Amino acid sequence: ERSGGLPALAEAAAKAHAALDPAHWDFFAGGAGEERTLRANEDAFACRRLVPRVLREVGEPDLAVDLLGEPLSMPVLIAPTAFHRLAHPGGEAATAVAAAAAATVMVVSMAATQPVEEIAATGAALWFQLYPQPDREFSDAVVRRAEAAGCRALVVTVDSPVFGRRERDRRNGFLDLPPGLACENMRDGTGRVRDVVMDPALGWAQVDRLRAVTGLPILLKGVLHPADARLAVEHGADALIVSNHGGRQLDGAVSTLDALPAVAAAVGGRIPVLVDGGIRRGSDVAIALALGASAVLVGRPVVWGLAAGGTDGVRAVLEALRADLRDVLTLAGAPRPGALTPDMVA
Ligand code: FNR
Repeated sequence: ERSGGLPALAEAAAKAHAALDPAHWDFFAGGAGEERTLRANEDAFACRRLVPRVLREVGEPDLAVDLLGEPLSMPVLIAPTAFHRLAHPGGEAATAVAAAAAATVMVVSMAATQPVEEIAATGAALWFQLYPQPDREFSDAVVRRAEAAGCRALVVTVDSPVFGRRERDRRNGFLDLPPGLACENMRDGTGRVRDVVMDPALGWAQVDRLRAVTGLPILLKGVLHPADARLAVEHGADALIVSNHGGRQLDGAVSTLDALPAVAAAVGGRIPVLVDGGIRRGSDVAIALALGASAVLVGRPVVWGLAAGGTDGVRAVLEALRADLRDVLTLAGAPRPGALTPDMVA
C-alpha cells in the first residue's frame, strides 16, 4: 500500500489502515482503473529536485499567503473528500476544528456526512465543493444553503461527468454509505436525501449560470488542459485547481504536477492556480509553488489523520506539513512561498 511521505503522514496512514474496515480503507485510498494516475501523482513529485539558492538571509520563513481574500497561515488547504463520518465519528466537524486550529481553509465536500451548518459552527474558514446537479433548481438551493451557512467560496468540480471506475469498490461491493450515515447536504425540501448525480451534460453554460446564482468566488476544480484554463479565465472563474481527483476519475490522465506548468502559463497570473494530488511532504509543496501554484490541497493525508485520531490526527498531519515546508523553504533559500520560482526545480 502506498502511504509514503513524511513520517507523521505515513504513521497516520498506518493507523488508519489498522482502524478502518478494509472496504472503507479501499474507498479512501483507491483510484480509478489500474491506478496509474493515482501513482503518477506521487511519482511526478519524486522525479523533481529543488535547486536551492544560498546566502539569501532567509531567517525564519513566513508561510502565510492570501488567497481570494482569505488569509491563510500556510499555502496548504484541505481538499474536499467525501464521507468523513466513515473515517471517524467526529466527521467533517472534527476535520474543520483542525483546519481552524491550523488557520487554513477546509473545502467541504458536497458528499459530506454532516450538515454544512454544523461544520460551519466550528468557526473554520470553509469553501463548499459542488457537483452541479442536473436538477438545476436543487443545485442552486444547495449553493444558497452553503452560502447562508457562511462558506466563502464555491469549488465547482468539473472532472466528473460520470463516476470514475473504482475497481476496488467494485470488488468490495462498496456502493453506498452504511445505514445511519447520509450525504446531509443533499436533503431536499421534503427531507429526502438525494443521490449525488454526475452530469455528463455539464458545460460552460453551467459555470456562467452559477455566476448569477452566487456572489461567492468560483474556483473550477479538475482542470488539466491549458485550453480549458484559458476558457476558465474567459468565463470569469476566480481561481483554478489543477486536479485529476486524486486519480479517482480518468485513469491514464496526466499527473497534476506535469499538467501544472502549461496551465500556469496559460493563465499568465490572471487568477490563482492551485494544485492537488500526491502532495505528501514539504518539498512537494515547494515544487508545486515553484512551478506556478499559489497553494496546494491535500486529500488522503487528511482522511488518514482523521481516521487515526480525529481532530488531533488531522492537526498532526497539517502541523507536520507546516514544519517540513518551513525547513524546506529555509534550506532552499526562499523567505516566503512567493520566492520560489521555476528555475529552482530540476
Ligand atoms: C476525493 N476527492 C473529491 N473531490 C471532490 O471534488 N469532491 C469529493 O467529494 C471528493 N471526494 C473524495 C473522496 C476521497 C476518499 C478522496 C481520496 C478524494 C478528490 C480530492 O478533492 C482531491 O482532488 C484528491 O484527494 C487529491 O489527491 P490526494 O491528496 O488524495 O493525493
